[in-house]
Amino acid sequence: MRKCGDALLEARFGQPFRNVERSGRYPLVASTVFLTTNMPTVYVTRTVRFNAAHRLHNPNKSDEWNRQTFGKCNNPNWHGHNFTLDVTVAGEPNPDTGFVIDLAELKRIIEEKIVSKVDHANLNLDVDFLQGIMPSTENFAIAVWKELEHALPAGRLHTVRIRETENNVVEYRGE
Ligand code: NI
Repeated sequence: MRKCGDALLEARFGQPFRNVERSGRYPLVASTVFLTTNMPTVYVTRTVRFNAAHRLHNPNKSDEWNRQTFGKCNNPNWHGHNFTLDVTVAGEPNPDTGFVIDLAELKRIIEEKIVSKVDHANLNLDVDFLQGIMPSTENFAIAVWKELEHALPAGRLHTVRIRETENNVVEYRGE
């Protein structure tokens, strides 16, 4: 489990705080970070819903392989899902606003970067950030992460969660 302050030191040195603490190579910085570890990290989630069509088909494999691997999802004439997308942003509340990120702003960004492109669209054909990507829910989540990762005005992207059906959920955390 990551603790507050880890991310700050990781950003500076590319290694977790606990390693720095153990090695004692950066005692001055470590003590500075220690003072910031009381800042609470809060996770804020915005949920959006959209409908889209797709087809799972690997053109490098035979039709038979695709049928056996993907079943109904390989249907040549597409199929649709009612998708739910949860975007979680982590950070410390801004002392002036109390917000990790303004949820109205997060809503606007998700709408512009994702929903406006995928809603009532064909994920195989219509979406610029999915070109050349087989739109499994896993690959879709990674692509959504890449679109949002550097678009946030505050906080840091923590989780992209896509629910394809009531029972099938995929999460990507940038790892
Ligand atoms: Ni599907």
